[in-house]
Amino acid sequence: MAQPLFSLDGQSLITPQSVSNNLPSPSQDHETGLLRTAEAEFAIVINLATQRFAAGNHLPDAVRWLIGQLHDIRQKFGAAVWQKLIPIIQAHSSAKILQQCPFTRWSFEKPRGYSGDAGLIDFIYGHPAVAEEVARSTRLGLDIFEYTINAPGPVAVRERRDILTRYVDDTAARTGSDTEVLAIAAGHLREAEASTALAEGRLKRWVALDQDPQSIGSISSQFHGTRVEPIDGSVRGLLARKHQIGTFHLIYAAGLYDYLTDKVAIRLTQICMEMLKPGGIFLFANFSDEMADDGYMESYMNWELLQRSEADMWRIANASAAENTVDKRVWFGTNRNIIYSTIRKLP
Ligand SMILES: C[S@@+](CC[C@H](N)C(=O)[O-])C[C@H]1O[C@@H](n2cnc3c(N)ncnc32)[C@H](O)[C@@H]1O
Repeated sequence: MAQPLFSLDGQSLITPQSVSNNLPSPSQDHETGLLRTAEAEFAIVINLATQRFAAGNHLPDAVRWLIGQLHDIRQKFGAAVWQKLIPIIQAHSSAKILQQCPFTRWSFEKPRGYSGDAGLIDFIYGHPAVAEEVARSTRLGLDIFEYTINAPGPVAVRERRDILTRYVDDTAARTGSDTEVLAIAAGHLREAEASTALAEGRLKRWVALDQDPQSIGSISSQFHGTRVEPIDGSVRGLLARKHQIGTFHLIYAAGLYDYLTDKVAIRLTQICMEMLKPGGIFLFANFSDEMADDGYMESYMNWELLQRSEADMWRIANASAAENTVDKRVWFGTNRNIIYSTIRKLP
């Protein structure tokens, strides 16, 4: 099994273990019995799926079916049994088939040493940066990719990118040429590619902070000469107030809270509220507990996330600042696989 090579900044360890460590575990005997049943159910499902792969017809449909079945098994048997089933699935011969999909393989192999890197998200965005990697895939891998990339999670992630662009452009329309934006865990900042405010020079600065020097390098070269200011920084640095970066009209974090425990998420949210100008908005996104691809992601992709419910999002938002100083909302994206919270600091 591919394991992360290092632990980022010690605050938000993006490892499958860091997520599963937070799960409760039931009694040993009960768990062993359940695990046997779960293994048997997986065996039936994967036999049917591999027969469909071998027949070679309607492969994306077969992958869709498998992803749905893994979600159901995960739900049915509970977190502790599912955690034990994951290595069994990963060791199954079907992993060699599914990891021919370039998106699945990248996630499993973790070339940057941690889960959910910006290169992985580029597959979801269909970005030219990963075109060569896609082109190297087998025919079977491409057929599988056709579904994995259009599964509900990736559809929601593409919508998330577009929502971020819209928030930046709307903020610029409201605040004018003084607009200051901060993206935390910016990745490759792909949402900036479609921003008209950036293209038309209507921003004062768009600070893009990430802990991965490769991502910061990518932002530096792509957005050189624009108002984008990449910063090699971390959640830990923000919590320690190490980065003296001023205040902002809009701060957002997408693809980050999914790895943060409540304690770190709440602290980070409080710090972000301090960095907001009066009237400014903080947005954070998280995969929701209604997401459909979790079983496939956690097993064949070795990509674990902390999913959050509406109540979980409210708990973080409610702890962000004194009640009468903010206006808070929690809302779902279109297919409910991603949930958002926006907190506006009252002027
Ligand atoms: C899933 S990607 C999301 C990228 C981008 N926001 C997007 O929506 O496409 C997660 C990003 O979070 C960054 N990240 C993870 N933990 C971090 C931390 N503790 N401090 C700063 N960045 C972090 C990673 O380097 C990675 O670029």
